[in-house]
Amino acid sequence: MERYLGLLLALFGTFTIINIIQAQEQQGFISLDCGLPANELSPYNETSTRLQFYSDATFIQSGLVGKIQSNLGIFRKPYTTLRYFPDGIRNCYNLNVEKGRKYLIRASFIYGNYDSNDTKPVFDLYLGPNLWATIDLEATGNGIREEILHMPTSNSLKICLVKTGDTTPLISALELRPMENGSYVIDQSGSLKRRSSNYLSKSTFDIRYSSDVYDRIWLPLFMNEWTEISTDLDVANNNIYGPPQDALKHAASPTNASAPLTIEWPSSNSHDQYHLYVHFSEIQELQANETREFNMVWNGKHYYGPLAPPKLNVLTVFSESSRTCGGGKCSVQFIRTNRSTLPPLLNAFEVFTVIQLSQSETDENDVSAIKSIAASYALSRISWQGDPCVPPQLRWDGLNCTNTVASIPPRLNTLNLSSSGLTGTIAAALQNLTQLEKLDLSNNNLTGGVPEFLGNMKLLTVINLSGNNLNGSLPQALQRKGLELSVEGNPRLCFSDPCKKPTKKKVVVPIVVSVASAATVIFVVVLFLVVRIKNPSIVEGLHLLMGTTSMANVTFANKKSRRFTYSEVIKMTNNFQRVLGEGGFGMVYHGTVNSYEQVAVKVLSESSTQGSKEFKAEVDLLLRVHHANLVRLVGYCYEGDKLSLIYEFLPNGDLKQHLTGKGGGSIIKWSVRLRIALEAASGLEYLHIGCTPPMVHRDVKTANILLDENLKAKLADFGLSRSFQSEGESQVLTAIAGTLGYLDPECNSSGRLSEKSDVYSFGIVLLEMITNQPVINQTSEILHITQWVGFKISRGDIIEIMDPNLGKDYDSNSAWRALELALSCANPSSSKRPSMSQVIQELKECIVCENSRVNDNQGLESQAMSIGLDSSMDPMAR
Ligand SMILES: *[C@@H]1O[C@H](CO)[C@@H](O)[C@H](O)[C@H]1NC(C)=O
Ligand SMILES: *[C@@H]1O[C@H](CO)[C@@H](O)[C@H](O)[C@H]1NC(C)=O
Ligand SMILES: *[C@@H]1O[C@H](CO)[C@@H](O)[C@H](O)[C@H]1NC(C)=O
Ligand SMILES: *[C@@H]1O[C@H](CO)[C@@H](O)[C@H](O)[C@H]1NC(C)=O
Ligand SMILES: *[C@@H]1O[C@H](CO)[C@@H](O)[C@H](O)[C@H]1NC(C)=O
Ligand SMILES: *[C@@H]1O[C@H](CO)[C@@H](O)[C@H](O)[C@H]1NC(C)=O
Ligand SMILES: *[C@@H]1O[C@H](CO)[C@@H](O)[C@H](O)[C@H]1NC(C)=O
Ligand SMILES: *[C@@H]1O[C@H](CO)[C@@H](O)[C@H](O)[C@H]1NC(C)=O
Ligand SMILES: *[C@@H]1O[C@H](CO)[C@@H](O)[C@H](O)[C@H]1NC(C)=O
Ligand SMILES: *[C@@H]1O[C@H](CO)[C@@H](O)[C@H](O)[C@H]1NC(C)=O
Repeated sequence: MERYLGLLLALFGTFTIINIIQAQEQQGFISLDCGLPANELSPYNETSTRLQFYSDATFIQSGLVGKIQSNLGIFRKPYTTLRYFPDGIRNCYNLNVEKGRKYLIRASFIYGNYDSNDTKPVFDLYLGPNLWATIDLEATGNGIREEILHMPTSNSLKICLVKTGDTTPLISALELRPMENGSYVIDQSGSLKRRSSNYLSKSTFDIRYSSDVYDRIWLPLFMNEWTEISTDLDVANNNIYGPPQDALKHAASPTNASAPLTIEWPSSNSHDQYHLYVHFSEIQELQANETREFNMVWNGKHYYGPLAPPKLNVLTVFSESSRTCGGGKCSVQFIRTNRSTLPPLLNAFEVFTVIQLSQSETDENDVSAIKSIAASYALSRISWQGDPCVPPQLRWDGLNCTNTVASIPPRLNTLNLSSSGLTGTIAAALQNLTQLEKLDLSNNNLTGGVPEFLGNMKLLTVINLSGNNLNGSLPQALQRKGLELSVEGNPRLCFSDPCKKPTKKKVVVPIVVSVASAATVIFVVVLFLVVRIKNPSIVEGLHLLMGTTSMANVTFANKKSRRFTYSEVIKMTNNFQRVLGEGGFGMVYHGTVNSYEQVAVKVLSESSTQGSKEFKAEVDLLLRVHHANLVRLVGYCYEGDKLSLIYEFLPNGDLKQHLTGKGGGSIIKWSVRLRIALEAASGLEYLHIGCTPPMVHRDVKTANILLDENLKAKLADFGLSRSFQSEGESQVLTAIAGTLGYLDPECNSSGRLSEKSDVYSFGIVLLEMITNQPVINQTSEILHITQWVGFKISRGDIIEIMDPNLGKDYDSNSAWRALELALSCANPSSSKRPSMSQVIQELKECIVCENSRVNDNQGLESQAMSIGLDSSMDPMAR
């Protein structure tokens, strides 16, 4: 005798589980009348079932509403309207369900010639990413009803209609009924697609809600060779399947009492797997000497039994494992045993086929993130319905996913929303796409800053934000290796076109001066304070206020001898009458040569020279240095111990005056500041690489940048600190010659000043020009200007950093660039500072940025460029 493992009897009779009948009516039911206008009679109670139907309008974003032709005799209201989907390939309903709960899902499709085209559609029905059924209304008449017992794997169930040919998918009604956890066998191996559910009666009525609390639909089935048995008595139906009493009150048994009762259904595919649920109840009054006992046989093999149906109580027989059928059909027979006095009896049965829904849904967090992104940009793409990643052929536009093994939930790894008309800021929900590798948001209208979190998404290898309207600066974390970042075409974003391609940006910017370097600065400051007390003249350096007319150039340039006698010096300065300023090495006086050419005469103190020979050699060298952006030494006096240097006079004073507003300086606007910076940088570059031997200025500061009548900048006081230092100064003091606050913090460790020390000082100058903050602020805890900027920059607002005197009249992009340039120059590590040539390049780009904003103010700017680009005139010392 064959044994059938796992064959079970559903409990009956004695148990006391939930009284299903008393469960709250229609609890958890979803009943959608597709195509019912939301405002029209929604919800309504369907007349025959009293089921409460709602419009489907809020559960789907697409589709049009149709109405079946009224002459077809279909009178159930849910089937009279429908929704059809001429647009898009996949259109989906989105229903909120309870994850892990079993649902009976029913979809109804009635064509009803709603489009007067008399062409019945063929299309596919999907449950999430998996094919549920092909709906072929052509083959099956006017209507189809599909039912499945399914356990959703997330709290959102997507039911999708997928176009597979020329015809237009449609749907009439969609119903979800929660089932008892323990009922029906559904697991990882698949869901149960209903083939049939019948009660055996000659009746012509379907049984469903509210007779069936789960709203299964039981159709009557009866064969000629059967005899019907019925009862008016109550039949206890409270096992977990709860087949309706109205079904159990009827039964069939074979008219030929010795013949078996047979049910059959075709099975075209021998691999199809079936589940059978059979419900028995003895509804006939049996005499004491009567017995009813039979066995169940599946395609000729014993399946279960013998069994005797319980009296006025339900017995459900089913198997945990599925069965296949050979020979093209399934045949289940109920055969009476030898001792049974009565033929077999059957009340109701259900047949299901197993369908494998093996493709996992996309990772839930990814789904909610992408939905949130779509919502924040109000994206309504027809393809963005159903599961984002799967099936692959229906993947949402602009996405790509990892999807190698069906049992592993796919993850989003690419999001391409380029040219999608996005507005607003970069959506925060992006950070929840934790597996994202490529992000393309280019050519939209995104505003706001580039969020910090993008830098923390370490799997990203491509970020394209170009062609938007982003502003602010790029998070530091985005400047990492292996990330291809494009941000050009964001005119208000730092590092963007037309100014520069950021991906090629090489200047390393220390946004915040590190603690270590700040400490270095403080150390140097302390050192200086000590030195200053000993020898203030060295600390302050030469502080010249000089000037000349352009005529002076011509005059002196043509002179062979630039040596003046002391009496000539007395004469030209009118006996040192007008003091222009006082420098570290001596006083500076105004002078006039040939009664109209103005000069600045610096009278050096006797102790400041090294010796006549060295002085002469030095002066000869300086006399040969010619550059448009260097204050020219036009002559000298060397007579005994009387030493003087005669320079061209610049009538507009120094840059410091103009920044502080002291000494009659006027506020200089941003575009002019950039041009001045470029000019000063050009002068410095010339000293570094243009002249022979190369020179280090050693004392670059705003007070040493002088301005002519056109506010053209010239560097003063170069080449001096090397020659003109007091005797007996130590190496250390030599090394730290310069001005407090401008001094390269690295010099005290290297012991030597290099061109990179000038770059540092220039960076400080640039910071002053940007911020107009004191270089050293002794009244504040934030001592040094780099610290001040570092503090402000962390708050990200350029307006707070910029000199308020500028009145916001600047392009913030060029401001950011200049700021970053200044900080890179002021990098505590000299090797990380740019060269002056790189500085010039960057400044030119800043100017282009600024000019692109102020194109109505062409005059000054184009002039500025031509001055800046004309790097030298007559460089004799080359
Ligand atoms: C529909 O039936 C429910 C009870 O099932 C009832 O509360 C409701 O008032 C009915 N609605 C209409 C419009 O009849
Ligand atoms: C039955 O399903 C509900 C809803 O999913 C769940 O809360 C409950 O724990 C389940 N019970 C059992 C025994 O699985
Ligand atoms: C009617 O059906 C035919 C196919 O039989 C199709 O080509 C045509 O586009 C349909 N017309 C409309 C209005 O849907
Ligand atoms: C009744 O069924 C038995 C067994 O199948 C069969 O042998 C017999 O011929 C049947 N009688 C009639 C009248 O069909
Ligand atoms: C059972 O008993 C009744 C009388 O009580 C009798 O008429 C009937 O023939 C018996 N049936 C069988 C199968 O013995
Ligand atoms: C039942 O009766 C048939 C013949 O009528 C016999 O072949 C079979 O062995 C019997 N079965 C049992 C279990 O007695
Ligand atoms: C999507 O990703 C897969 C690998 O996950 C790759 O083979 C495929 O080419 C990608 N498709 C597109 C359109 O980028
Ligand atoms: C995004 O899509 C556009 C075309 O729609 C394409 O040009 C671009 O290369 C894509 N970006 C990525 C990162 O694949
Ligand atoms: C990201 O996901 C977490 C957890 O799922 C959620 O709490 C958070 O709101 C999400 N963030 C955004 C911006 O959607
Ligand atoms: C971008 O947005 C701004 C402001 O909302 C608007 O003026 C501009 O026309 C938009 N540009 C594009 C290309 O949509």
